[in-house]
Amino acid sequence: MKIGIDKIGFYTPHIYVDMEKLAEARNIEPAKFTIGIGQSQMAVAPITQDSVTLAANAALEIIDDEDREKIDFVIFGSESGIDHSKSGAVYVHQLLGLNPHARAIEVKQACYGATAGIQMAKGHIALNPDSKVLVLGTDIARYGLNTPGESTQGAGAVAMVISANPKIMVLENPNVYLTNDIMDFWRPIYSDKAFVDGKFSNEQYILFFNKVWEAFKAKSGLELKDMEAICYHLPYTKMGLKALRTVLDEATEDVQERLLENYQVSTLYNRNVGNIYTGSLYLSLLSLLENKDDLQEGNRIGMFSYGSGAVGEFFSGTLQPNFKQYLNIDGHRSLFNARKEVSIEEYEKIFEETLPTDGTDIELDINRDPASIVLSGIMDNKRQYVNKKR
Ligand code: COA
Repeated sequence: MKIGIDKIGFYTPHIYVDMEKLAEARNIEPAKFTIGIGQSQMAVAPITQDSVTLAANAALEIIDDEDREKIDFVIFGSESGIDHSKSGAVYVHQLLGLNPHARAIEVKQACYGATAGIQMAKGHIALNPDSKVLVLGTDIARYGLNTPGESTQGAGAVAMVISANPKIMVLENPNVYLTNDIMDFWRPIYSDKAFVDGKFSNEQYILFFNKVWEAFKAKSGLELKDMEAICYHLPYTKMGLKALRTVLDEATEDVQERLLENYQVSTLYNRNVGNIYTGSLYLSLLSLLENKDDLQEGNRIGMFSYGSGAVGEFFSGTLQPNFKQYLNIDGHRSLFNARKEVSIEEYEKIFEETLPTDGTDIELDINRDPASIVLSGIMDNKRQYVNKKR
């Protein structure tokens, strides 16, 4: 049975900062951010967006009435969840008006959560071929003002419907995965900002890629030449390139050229959004599919997922007939074009504006946020969400 990505949606908040201006404000050479890190713009989450609203907005774009009926499993992959107990999936399920006879859970393993969700969805569809699964990768990346990680923040979500006979990409077997207990990046439950050993995380990312790629080749018999492109988890766009370069000499010059060219296309959206943790790999896939004109049915895309801590996975998928027809290229262009730049002062103010953590009620001004689904406040320790379209 063919199982894979039937639909893919994306959402990022309506405001961003320019990375050259951020560099200037931090007395850093702008080229360090735009070339060394490879980021041009960074999405900023207003207080009215959290991991639930980002995910729900991304899903709203792709869900129709048939999906509302057939989705019986919602998997919310996130490392910026809003509750230690209740899953973000339950809120999204309600905000989208999905069939009550569904499972709804949250999956956490740093930036790997959405990949775990997709693989779980594959198993669920194998057992229940008529059902569909909604997988969400949704996060706000926060390292703190004036920290080395600041240039690798961002906010956004990718939503995917996984089904049998998918319209966009069939997920292939085999997959290769790897776990090792390391402290390269983590966020204790008392902190709203991540702790990171940046250099170590870069090294481990590459090491994990090399290990799963070697094992994938042995298990699948596939090589670089069989990949039209490889998409990477992108904490920043230079990261995947560093990993790709370690294996390029396995291929002929033509193949190297193709992979490098397609890598650049696969980073276009991420370059202007920043790190969205769990959704980053899938934003890279979306960037490739929506911006590369000559991709064809049957092309194979390699996918490298990495979640610090750490779990890595390599798998592949093949593009389906007329897949372009089922993407929302114009919608995503409009989403990017409608965004507004905020100054560094405004960004710092927004960054420091956080929700109360002592049980105080708060009412938020939702008119300043053009998103369809927003957080309108907290009452009696309960987050209040509004779907303006309902
Ligand atoms: N022009 C062009 N490039 C420049 C430059 C300039 N003026 N100044 C510096 N650079 C390059 C550096 O050479 C380096 O490139 P390289 O990594 O290819 O050698 C790059 O910019 C980054 O510089 P570096 O000094 O390493 O940056 P940093 O110490 O400030 O930290 C991270 C960078 C990514 C480690 C940091 O932002 C971080 O910790 N991020 C969060 C963790 C993360 O994203 N981990 C990834 C794995 S999940």
